[in-house]
Amino acid sequence: MAQQQPQTGPAGAAGHPDGPAAAPDLPPRVATVYGESDLATVPAFAGGFINFGYWAELGDLTGRVLTEADRVRSEQDLYRLVLGTFGEARGRGALEAGCGRGLGCALALREFGLDPVIGLDAHPDQIARARAAHAELLAGGAGSAGRLTFVLGAAQRMPLAAGTVDCLYSVEAVQHFRFPAAFALEAARVLRPGGRLALTTFFARTPKAARELPGLLPPYADGLDVPHVIDEFAGTLAAAGLRDVVVRPIGDAVWEGYDRYMAQQPELSDGWPRRYLTAYETGLLDYYLLTAVAPRRAGGQRAGASPGGAAASRGR
Ligand SMILES: C[S@@+](CC[C@H](N)C(=O)[O-])C[C@H]1O[C@@H](n2cnc3c(N)ncnc32)[C@H](O)[C@@H]1O
Repeated sequence: MAQQQPQTGPAGAAGHPDGPAAAPDLPPRVATVYGESDLATVPAFAGGFINFGYWAELGDLTGRVLTEADRVRSEQDLYRLVLGTFGEARGRGALEAGCGRGLGCALALREFGLDPVIGLDAHPDQIARARAAHAELLAGGAGSAGRLTFVLGAAQRMPLAAGTVDCLYSVEAVQHFRFPAAFALEAARVLRPGGRLALTTFFARTPKAARELPGLLPPYADGLDVPHVIDEFAGTLAAAGLRDVVVRPIGDAVWEGYDRYMAQQPELSDGWPRRYLTAYETGLLDYYLLTAVAPRRAGGQRAGASPGGAAASRGR
């Protein structure tokens, strides 16, 4: 693992109001998986991304041999789905929570015109990989100076001043968050009034499912992932002061495509990752896209906001 460094704020933005924090305290399994194990390099993922992918844009997958290029496309398309919720985004500033190698940040800059883009990740090795992967952009060639920054920091304590971000997004990282209420409060704090939040990942469908998932999927049992319950998480966003919280299940465009790809990988065809489709088909989990809007007046409801209390709506 790379040497732990204190987190620092991105250039031009004052940091967290309580000052710089020590390097994020990662759960041991999260530290290992994104440190020495470098999850992006396992055959389930491709192209440096680490997400299950959104497969709807690849067309009918029946009978088709899925290539590594298809896998990368699915991972990029998950980003496109999330970033597309922002509407016309050119010139608006964005923050990604849990950016991994920063490939989604570069896509946000390149395809959606979000500018500047800050990639935040709690693992120092991921930040080091992101900086290495985008060294040219970061060096400021071809007018790119200051448009992309990678910052070490936790989603539950973002090293940013209040009201500094237009668009906050996250792709397949929330399942690692131990403190979803703190993340929601931070999202409400760093977003400008009226700023937009969009995130996607997998959640337990019910509290009962959350209790059953560790028996089926090792990442819940070994401490990598937390089976957050979708309605409770949506309520946590609303309780933090975010409004217009919309929850959209997108599992029909995620799990089958991912499973088809797994089935075609010799080293993965009979492994436990294929149980995600079982968990989806038996109603234990689903993949969701959530969107919300920051309150018009800065500062959401602060400490003591009770998770699960406020209303959220479901969209399709
Ligand atoms: C599954 S990877 C997804 C990476 C990237 N979004 C993608 O789709 O390729 C999850 C990332 O979240 C980061 N992470 C985990 N817990 C975090 C936290 N509390 N705050 C910020 N990042 C976190 C991990 O270090 C990892 O890079």
